[in-house]
Amino acid sequence: MKNHDAPNPPLAILLFTLFTLLPLNPAAGASHAGPLTYLWPLPADFNSGEQTLSVDPDLALVADGNGGKSAIIKDAFDRYKGIIFKRGGSGGRRSLALERFAAGGRKGKRSASYDVAGLKIVVHSGSEDLALGVDESYKLFIGKSDGQSIVWEATIEANTIYGALRGLETFSQLCVFDYGTKSVQIHKAPWFIQDKPRFNYRGMMIDTSRHYLPIEVIKQIIESMSYAKFNVLHWHIIDEQSFPLEVPSYPKLWKGSYSNWERYTVEDAYEIVNFAKSRGINVMAEVDVPGHAESWGVGYPDLWPSSSCREPLDVTKNFTFDLISGMLSDMRKIFPFGLFHLGGDEVNTDCWSSTPHVKKWLADRNMTTKGAYEYFVLKAQEIAISKGWIPVNWEETFNAFPSALNPKTIVHNWLGGGVCPAAVAKGFRCIFSNQGFWYLDHLDVPWEDVYTADPVEGIHDASKQKLVIGGEVCMWGETADTSDVLQTIWPRAAAAAERLWSKKEDISGNITLTALPRLHYFRCLLNRRGVAAAPVNNKYARQPPTGPGSCYLQ
Ligand SMILES: *[C@@H]1O[C@H](CO)[C@@H](O)[C@H](O)[C@H]1NC(C)=O
Ligand SMILES: *[C@@H]1O[C@H](CO)[C@@H](O)[C@H](O)[C@H]1NC(C)=O
Ligand SMILES: *[C@@H]1O[C@H](CO)[C@@H](O)[C@H](O)[C@H]1NC(C)=O
Repeated sequence: MKNHDAPNPPLAILLFTLFTLLPLNPAAGASHAGPLTYLWPLPADFNSGEQTLSVDPDLALVADGNGGKSAIIKDAFDRYKGIIFKRGGSGGRRSLALERFAAGGRKGKRSASYDVAGLKIVVHSGSEDLALGVDESYKLFIGKSDGQSIVWEATIEANTIYGALRGLETFSQLCVFDYGTKSVQIHKAPWFIQDKPRFNYRGMMIDTSRHYLPIEVIKQIIESMSYAKFNVLHWHIIDEQSFPLEVPSYPKLWKGSYSNWERYTVEDAYEIVNFAKSRGINVMAEVDVPGHAESWGVGYPDLWPSSSCREPLDVTKNFTFDLISGMLSDMRKIFPFGLFHLGGDEVNTDCWSSTPHVKKWLADRNMTTKGAYEYFVLKAQEIAISKGWIPVNWEETFNAFPSALNPKTIVHNWLGGGVCPAAVAKGFRCIFSNQGFWYLDHLDVPWEDVYTADPVEGIHDASKQKLVIGGEVCMWGETADTSDVLQTIWPRAAAAAERLWSKKEDISGNITLTALPRLHYFRCLLNRRGVAAAPVNNKYARQPPTGPGSCYLQ
């Protein structure tokens, strides 16, 4: 942080020792004893004071630095202003505080109106690149401008616009509506927060093949992800049941959609990617081959081994790989993220061993069906790599032929424990999604199990831990559509989000005391923002509450 934005060093030390003595005063009716900080996920380092500040509904944005003028920052500021001041608008008042803030805020008498009149956002880099590992760190300071002046200031400083977005989310969580004064307040000021994520990859998967999700719903999911600081939407677009995506090079593929209305045009896909980018979220597309691809053959039956045996894709034909190549060329234009998921899971090769022409092809090459599975996966990897992508594959590929996989491969765990330890031991990078904890369609997994699962479990060497790029919660779509998807995702996804963002040592201990009240609070925050997050205490996820009661206790 630059000197003029920082509290002077003695003050910072003083604040650190003050630490958190009072709760953030969550909504009326709920009482939360103890020194908890109601921010989710918990920032890496912070300290706070004991003052309550009012925030001007005409809160002004003062952007600075090479990236401060980015439209992404302006849009995000306006979006968060809408969230923070949902209740009680400014009514056209122009506050004295704002005038003082705009004038530089040093001279003259203090405004009677509001303590915090503006938010300064300083972004050092002008780049809007959103790659894996982009700097998401930020500093958020809400304090007296020179440590003793009567004028307060709020400043977010970040190296990239994406760090600033994370800071804006934190700022919005500090702002609470006070029903007595009917104004927005910040408690426990001054605040000094220095934050950055523990893992670079913090993903959520959605499945639009088992059930189609309308664009608006995907946007709601993305928007809600940004509240918990997720940064990758893994879009499992197509599977055996339906093929909703338009592929211009092979225009018959989306004949495999459930209906003419359950489809995504190329323009829809662009819109989703851009919507996500403006929230600091990458979209990683998945084309799951060679299993999970039956729907492809509705438009191109040659892809099936035979009309009666339709999966996996026909390994013998050049057409199969030509089509994959054309499809990935089309998708490369839509999905700029550096990672691309090639699936590779649950490949049942019975159709290969029972279909005469495939059987002959295998015999001619002295190839087993397992060998053909390897051949297929490696060929698909080569295609993805030739388009400039890093391939991600489900763990079965690693379990079946670890030495043959391209060394760039990122192994995606799901079946159980021990896979990331084995993958990183062989030098591969890994994404943790152990289904016992992070499969959101497993409705009987309680939030505690989601929360305590750790991506580097079983990996002790720090250099190997670094190869675990993060983790992902998976929202498989067999029993989730628009009617229930958000309440299945939330609040349990939030438990994983904090695991992926916050320092491990800060979120250990007795989580009934340190995390549960905060998770209740975050669930109610999601509800206030219009997200249909289900009660935290549900025995089975996504069910309605069992009876009357406060949001903060259910
Ligand atoms: C299929 O591709 C291979 C390798 O590129 C080539 O040698 C072969 O002639 C092609 N087969 C047909 C039928 O085009
Ligand atoms: C076929 O493969 C098997 C097992 O890999 C090997 O023992 C055998 O020699 C091979 N036969 C030919 C004709 O290549
Ligand atoms: C954690 O705290 C709760 C609530 O006070 C208590 O019931 C429980 O026994 C504690 N658990 C452990 C492991 O100390």
